[in-house]
Amino acid sequence: MSEPDDKVRRVVAGAVQRHAGENGPLLEILHAVQNELGCVPGEAIAPLADALNLSRAEVHGVVSFYHHFRAAAPGRYVVQLCRAEACQSMNAQATETRARELLGVDMGSTTADGRVTLEAVYCLGNCACAPSIMVNGELHGRVTPERFAELAAEWGQRS
Ligand code: FES
Repeated sequence: MSEPDDKVRRVVAGAVQRHAGENGPLLEILHAVQNELGCVPGEAIAPLADALNLSRAEVHGVVSFYHHFRAAAPGRYVVQLCRAEACQSMNAQATETRARELLGVDMGSTTADGRVTLEAVYCLGNCACAPSIMVNGELHGRVTPERFAELAAEWGQRS
């Protein structure tokens, strides 16, 4: 893990300070760090562990356990594909396969141009319109592989 730069130190210190005195504040602090930095970089682990009197392994374990936390800043478009039951039953796997082919990345990764990050999520609360995806917080239902290709073309045009 590399040395944290000033911004990472400042963000971690601010988040720790805001949640000082809470019981088990690690998750709240991690959310705050990701909100500010777009991710929880590896270099944030050591100062977080020091501030909370935890081991680095403990902090790293929590960060890697939750899909929500990212180790690197996401692309301009964060595309979350639902893998939960209702979407699976409506062939979400075909949409996911098309997404990976079209963008040339695996789930949890960002395209080389930094444009699109693909993430798996487990229910977007839009089960009646499965398969569902969310793009930068905007929900899309009945996303077939063909519809996904149309959306991807739109992201490509918005440079
Ligand atoms: S199962 Fe996909 S939105 Fe609920």
